[in-house]
Amino acid sequence: MEDALLRIREVSKHFGGVYAVNGVSLDITHGGVCGLVGPNGSGKTTLFNTILGLHRPDQGEIYFHGECINNLAPHQIYELGLVNAFQLPRLFYDLSVLDNMLVAARGHQGDRLFNSLFLRRRWQEQEKGLIEEALDILELVELDKWVSSPAGELSGGQRKLLEVARGLMAKPTLLLLDEPAAGINPVLGKKIFQKLADFSHNGITFFVVEHRLEILFEFASWVYVMDKGRIAIAGQPQNIIGDPTFYTIYLGEE
Ligand SMILES: Nc1ncnc2c1ncn2[C@@H]1O[C@H](COP(=O)(O)OP(=O)(O)O)[C@@H](O)[C@H]1O
Ligand SMILES: [Mg+2]
Repeated sequence: MEDALLRIREVSKHFGGVYAVNGVSLDITHGGVCGLVGPNGSGKTTLFNTILGLHRPDQGEIYFHGECINNLAPHQIYELGLVNAFQLPRLFYDLSVLDNMLVAARGHQGDRLFNSLFLRRRWQEQEKGLIEEALDILELVELDKWVSSPAGELSGGQRKLLEVARGLMAKPTLLLLDEPAAGINPVLGKKIFQKLADFSHNGITFFVVEHRLEILFEFASWVYVMDKGRIAIAGQPQNIIGDPTFYTIYLGEE
């Protein structure tokens, strides 16, 4: 598949004798929400960290837009448009929701922008444009009422929404999210995934680890199921649900 956005070929990552990721191949095509699920310890986080340059694969190749990114540093991968929330500057609880968005816009130049937050009068047209962008995104994730509130005052679910909003602010091509609906109520969880699906129509592709299968399966266009470091099954949600292997994998977890 030459037009895949992310192409992973036979990637392995082991820690001592543990094959956390064991010969994984997968493709993420442009658009949509792609899910990654699997029991605890099946290798999802290790796969994400390997894609993002935090671990170097022991074997195999990872291509983004056709370019091999195996040997790139995390910030170089980020600059290519492959983004994860942890690469963004951390959330500042005392700063407003809007300022936290602006800090995320510049990624690793965050320090410079952080300083300029206190020198607002010197802001140029460019920064005004960023504010408008931030406000648009905050409106879409329904955080516009909290623009001037300190981020520390947001609920857990709202912080998850802000995390997604900050990821979007970095203008990624591919946004990796690790459990965006964890620990929040099902209604808000569904809302977050609905937003991801909406954004995916505007040129952003999502690759999402999520334990809340009922929510993920409603919005994902494709799902990879990991088991013991391997991709055990892949397909559209309705086909995954209809596959007996899927239940065997999860029953093994009990
Ligand atoms: N840094 C590490 N050092 C040693 N073992 C690790 C490390 N990270 C993960 N593992 C092991 O690799 C396996 C996969 O873990 P992980 O990728 O966190 O799975 P998941 O995210 O699916 O729960 C587990 O057996 C875990 O104990
Ligand atoms: Mg994990």
